[in-house]
Amino acid sequence: METLTLTRPDDWHLHLRDGDALKAVLPYTARQFARAIVMPNLKPPVRTVAEAEAYRDRILAALPAGQMFEPLMTLYLTDNTPPEEMFAAKAAQFVKAVKYYPAGATTNSDSGVTDIRQCDGVFAAMEEADLPLLLHGEVTHAAVDIFDREKVFIETHLMPLRQRFPKLRIVLEHITTTEAVDYVLETDRIAATLTPQHLLYSRMALFQGGLRPHYYCLPILKRETHRQALVKAAISGNPKFFLGTDSAPHPRHSKESDCGCAGCFSALHALELYAEAFESAGALDKLEAFASFYGPDFYHLPRNTDAITLTKTPWRIPDELPFGESGLVPLRAGEELTWKIASADHKPALLS
Ligand code: DOR
Ligand code: ZN
Repeated sequence: METLTLTRPDDWHLHLRDGDALKAVLPYTARQFARAIVMPNLKPPVRTVAEAEAYRDRILAALPAGQMFEPLMTLYLTDNTPPEEMFAAKAAQFVKAVKYYPAGATTNSDSGVTDIRQCDGVFAAMEEADLPLLLHGEVTHAAVDIFDREKVFIETHLMPLRQRFPKLRIVLEHITTTEAVDYVLETDRIAATLTPQHLLYSRMALFQGGLRPHYYCLPILKRETHRQALVKAAISGNPKFFLGTDSAPHPRHSKESDCGCAGCFSALHALELYAEAFESAGALDKLEAFASFYGPDFYHLPRNTDAITLTKTPWRIPDELPFGESGLVPLRAGEELTWKIASADHKPALLS
């Protein structure tokens, strides 16, 4: 197959940051995706409907003229989030979900939740309002090995949460393990997003000929057997598994450091990376539903009606993209990709 035309996809898990960083990265996402679920882990985090509205306005203001893109906002859960905010969020049409970060789990998670049970009042309100809960599913206890943190979260946090709130709709974000795939498959009202890096790479990529900080994200890449389970889930045609890049820009100096930040930047070439993963598994025909149908279906939103075309045109991923003084290194920088979006200026149907 040399050409691939898909219904325009959406990104169901994205970090856009703020200020100059937002301006630098937003055009890449808007070029590929019609909408994105925007993560709230800013400094300070986006905790209230009012903060989400202001952030949404800043995102729309940062869009280059003529580009269409709809940011779908999320709220950042803290120990002190009042349950009433959930009903305000539901009433504000632009807030689509609430994000749970365990305190200290990842970038800008200091204000996250210290004890998940503290949030039961909020979860009850979310269940009533039918507002989805998005989970960064890792425990943070220092005694738990970094490669086991997702599995332990499922056993010790998610299973009891599911029992307490059986009707709450949940997305287990950026899943990385066989255990997560199995749990999502066997549990009602729970879906999962999958990133390009977790579909394409095992933890070996972190150590290919030396230490590779640009492959470091959280949850961390796992063993090859886990990667294979993720690919199997992605290509299964099961609507519980859909696209969420977790594209997370950090300046080069913050990644190439003695204590480097977690996050892979894939907004530049996300769809091409997914196409490669699906093609390697012999399942390009399953990409469209994964990228463009199952996400909006889960969020009860209409599917996009315009299309995007990829062609087989080998190209070299740039070594670096403009990003303040330090630059931004995209995932798999300097290496080749076979799929390429045919027209960069393709606009969502809403514009025409
Ligand atoms: O690798 C990651 N980067 N994982 C996260 O959960 C957060 C993200 C970020 O914001 O940089
Ligand atoms: Zn993320």
